[in-house]
Amino acid sequence: MDLKGCIFDLDGVIVDTAKYHFLAWQRLAEEMGFAFTEDHNEALKGVSRMASLEILLRVGGVVKDDEEKIELATRKNNWYVEYISRMTPDEILPGSIDLLNRLRSEGILTAIGSASRNAGTILDRIGLRTMFDVIVDGNKIHSAKPDPEVFLKGAEELGLAPENCVVFEDAQAGIEAALAGGMKCIGVGSPLNLGKANLVVPDLKNITLNQIKNL
Ligand code: BG6
Ligand code: MG
Repeated sequence: MDLKGCIFDLDGVIVDTAKYHFLAWQRLAEEMGFAFTEDHNEALKGVSRMASLEILLRVGGVVKDDEEKIELATRKNNWYVEYISRMTPDEILPGSIDLLNRLRSEGILTAIGSASRNAGTILDRIGLRTMFDVIVDGNKIHSAKPDPEVFLKGAEELGLAPENCVVFEDAQAGIEAALAGGMKCIGVGSPLNLGKANLVVPDLKNITLNQIKNL
């Protein structure tokens, strides 16, 4: 392919924030009187905040009205923001900075395509904001992954056609979003969950530019 841009999901690809989401959702579940496990948490990866709350409530068999749901999601987010506001650059996942540097030195544009409304805070805490030409986060989109909106907007803001972009994703919903947007997709994690991706790598450590270009 004619590779001109790479669009990265943030949570689970550049940083492991799933553990902070988990701690905050678990605390909320505990307050409501039920257990929420790491296994349950798997289903929340890549899923928007309100959709995550719906899954959590289903796990607990709890019914809430819309106003209560907003209050619960806000309470969870306040705890989550407390955790991420203490993040440091040490939490950048191995291989990320090196890959971003290699792409940028070849003139390949870079973007963030994240469902999170907290992406900006995280990028500031880990000091990576300037490594991305474009940042599209949950504040800029209307439809959550697997809808391709976040990645299509990323490509558009980079000034590129989708077929010239590759997406890096750790969640099934994100891979579906990338493919639905007409982009190639590299799954970061286990082939067991990410089988639909054009290529699956365990992390960003050993990936070569040729591998990306030859998808
Ligand atoms: C995604 C995470 O990146 O962002 C999900 O994988 C999270 O777990 C979603 O629910 C929304 O994040 P936030 O920070 O806006 O609540
Ligand atoms: Mg993710």
